[in-house]
Amino acid sequence: MAQLNERPLFVTFEGIDGCGKSTQAFLTHQFLVSRGYKVKLLREPGSTSVAERIREVVLNKRLKMSDLTELFLYEAARAEITSREIAPALDKGTIVLCDRFYDSTTAYQGYGRKLDIRMVKALHKIAVKGVTPDLTFVFDVDLKTAFARLGKSKDRLESQPKAFFKRVRLGFLEIARKERRRVKLIDGTRPVDEVFDNVRKYLLRKLDR
Ligand SMILES: Nc1ncnc2c1ncn2[C@@H]1O[C@H](COP(=O)(O)OP(=O)(O)O)[C@@H](O)[C@H]1O
Ligand SMILES: [Mg+2]
Repeated sequence: MAQLNERPLFVTFEGIDGCGKSTQAFLTHQFLVSRGYKVKLLREPGSTSVAERIREVVLNKRLKMSDLTELFLYEAARAEITSREIAPALDKGTIVLCDRFYDSTTAYQGYGRKLDIRMVKALHKIAVKGVTPDLTFVFDVDLKTAFARLGKSKDRLESQPKAFFKRVRLGFLEIARKERRRVKLIDGTRPVDEVFDNVRKYLLRKLDR
């Protein structure tokens, strides 16, 4: 029987491409379901029909766009997923897991594209209307490891120069440093099971609270 989550949790998975977000989000979903929780796994940008179309545009390597356009597209997709998927699920007592959320935009569009961080964060606020993650994992990996894991087929963002990813990685580290209570920094170069042991530890701490 599904357990009623008295305090639904909103958990996000963050870090550069290839750090292991999707792998860990999947394992977390499996783990929580096996424990009897109601849980929903989403990804950003995407997870609604409009947001999936925005995803196609934003990740299409053949399309050129200004940095500000890119930022607005991510925030538009975020407004969609938040109002139509995340908030209703949390209202029903479902745990929500999201593969990327606004920290990715802070890291990629803020630190990576060098857009003004305060402006970027102000837009998150408008897009999410108070729906903020309770717990965020940042998986840190060096660029060499990340690139080796990604292989050849890269999307528009993944095809950016190395210096861009360096800034993005440092951006995530900065986010983790500034918000230690919410954001847990985990060494993503460790084996999958070991990384997940860390995820589970923080998750259980939050759930048992
Ligand atoms: N801890 C790990 N050690 C080794 N390989 C991993 C690890 N985590 C994920 N991978 C592999 O690296 C690739 C990228 O992982 P993925 O979870 O898709 O990363 P992301 O979603 O952050 O881009 C996949 O092929 C995955 O199987
Ligand atoms: Mg992924």
